[in-house]
Amino acid sequence: MDERNKGRLTKDGIRIYDREAFAGMHRAGALASRILDEIAPMIEPGVTTAAIDASINAQVDEAGATSATIGYKGYQHASCISVNHVVCHGIPGDKRLKDGDILNVDVTVIVDGWYGDTSRMYVAGKLSRKAERLIQVTHDALFKGIEAVRPGNTFGDIGHAIQAYVEAHRMSVVRDFCGHGLGRVFHAPPNVLHYGRPGTGPELEPGMFFTIEPMVNLGRPETKVLSDDWTAVTRDKSLSAQFEHSVGVTEDGCELFTLSAADKFHPTWA
Ligand code: MF3
Ligand code: CO
Ligand code: CO
Repeated sequence: MDERNKGRLTKDGIRIYDREAFAGMHRAGALASRILDEIAPMIEPGVTTAAIDASINAQVDEAGATSATIGYKGYQHASCISVNHVVCHGIPGDKRLKDGDILNVDVTVIVDGWYGDTSRMYVAGKLSRKAERLIQVTHDALFKGIEAVRPGNTFGDIGHAIQAYVEAHRMSVVRDFCGHGLGRVFHAPPNVLHYGRPGTGPELEPGMFFTIEPMVNLGRPETKVLSDDWTAVTRDKSLSAQFEHSVGVTEDGCELFTLSAADKFHPTWA
């Protein structure tokens, strides 16, 4: 590892990166986000999730980058694709999307050693009213969390902002999965919880890099992992949605590494 980008660790084991590191994260984040822009037109009834993953894999190769998920703990795909009641870590396969299916596509790439991790929601065909509400609340909850990112605030403030917003809309926040520090590694301290109490947890400092990736269910928050050891679903079979950005804390707020240049982050762009 490049000594200049090692930075220091806080007492909670959170790495503080320097200014040059932000540029590396922007390059990785921009690629992950561009790949999610590019697949948007192929999300249609009849397409398989394996075909979407193949396109993602080809784009990672084309860019001369590396997929962070292929080979990660034995995972074999360039994306996770989580349809309807799948909460996260859905494995791409030969099942075809049906009209009205909603899906999260999650891509993590490595560019020059830097990790870019982002996910967003798509719809195949016609979006139902209840799915649209779920997707809107999940999207806005992520941005409530992002608005809480500034030095002096804590990770508990981020979680609280997300939880309060989601529960005010009578939906539930998944507790079993969380965001994470990232940078030169995929998953680093801290665990970024999407629920919590104001003022609790580590304080945010400039140079911290992490993801915020709330999963929101229309029904109850409980999940279970299927026998493939990856696919997490809602226990009550209710619909689930997720959005994810990778962020870096600045002196007065944060920078988003994974913004969509084409403004396609939210599915209603279409
Ligand atoms: N990208 C996911 C995250 O947001 C992790 C996927 S790990 C995999 O942290 F192995 F399932 F791909
Ligand atoms: Co992540
Ligand atoms: Co991700």
